Amino acid sequence: MIKKAIFPAAGLGTRFLPATKSQPKEMLPLVDKPLIQYGVEEAVASGIKNIIIITGRGKNAIEDHFDVSFELEKFLEMRNDFEKLQIVKSISAMVSFAYIRQKEAMGLGHAIFTAKELLNTDPFAVILGDDIIISETPCIKQMIKIFSKKQATIIAIKKVPKSEIHHYGVIEAEEIDSRLFKVKSLVEKPSARQAPSDYAIIGRYILTSGIFKTIIKVKPDAKGEIQLTDAINLLIKEEPVYAYEFAGTRYDAGSKMGFLIATVEIALRRKDLGKDFRNYLMNLDLSEF
Ligand code: UTP
Repeated sequence: MIKKAIFPAAGLGTRFLPATKSQPKEMLPLVDKPLIQYGVEEAVASGIKNIIIITGRGKNAIEDHFDVSFELEKFLEMRNDFEKLQIVKSISAMVSFAYIRQKEAMGLGHAIFTAKELLNTDPFAVILGDDIIISETPCIKQMIKIFSKKQATIIAIKKVPKSEIHHYGVIEAEEIDSRLFKVKSLVEKPSARQAPSDYAIIGRYILTSGIFKTIIKVKPDAKGEIQLTDAINLLIKEEPVYAYEFAGTRYDAGSKMGFLIATVEIALRRKDLGKDFRNYLMNLDLSEF
């Protein structure tokens, strides 16, 4: 079954400059938790045992975050602040973490290829930390269930309005079951008129090891990046590839607007903050802005 998940986190995060000049985008907090921790918790709740984070220069804060923090733990212990101590301890105890460096940000496909030696021939999950998914059953767990039946690559998808489709990779596919599609091809950022469907690719994948054979065949795009969608298009010629419309709400925390929406809605969902924050919003006089 799927026991390993890759978290590509070596991108430069240019949409959040200057915040990401010396700090990884993955460590920006949604309310009080770094973006990447939402994805890690989803993986852990889905039965993943090994997490492989692809990092790059300036990303040390991610490793420190998931490591034991002796000084902080001692400090909280001395103050008898056991609630916070539990929060801090549980982060490092979650699962096993491995880190690989992608020396240059040469695209998502290239980032995944750097983890090849740690994966052998096992199928694995890929989680893009920018996509925060709130759902009753964790998104990756839903996908693992489909994988157990199909034993093939599964891509997460969501319906998006036509006006937004040009921001996404889009599937051309045939619906074969409720929420399940057999993929014919992937089209990167099509215009609304050229989009083959309304289903956009979201940052969750279960990939077979066949992907490594196709990533090496992909030519760099105009920006010099090796794209995962190109590698999956080649994979479709070799093995079946499916897309799954997961149940849940997805936030695009990789864009400024999406990050703001995620912050507001996750705060509203929180037991400790939701009520007060809702009252604040209800009484907010928007005419002042
Ligand atoms: P994005 O396209 O969101 O790029 O990458 P980015 O660098 O993170 O952010 P912007 O667009 O400049 O603001 C999608 C995911 O792929 C990872 C990123 O870290 C992110 O999780 N990635 C991208 C890599 O790990 N390596 C790369 O070479 C490119």
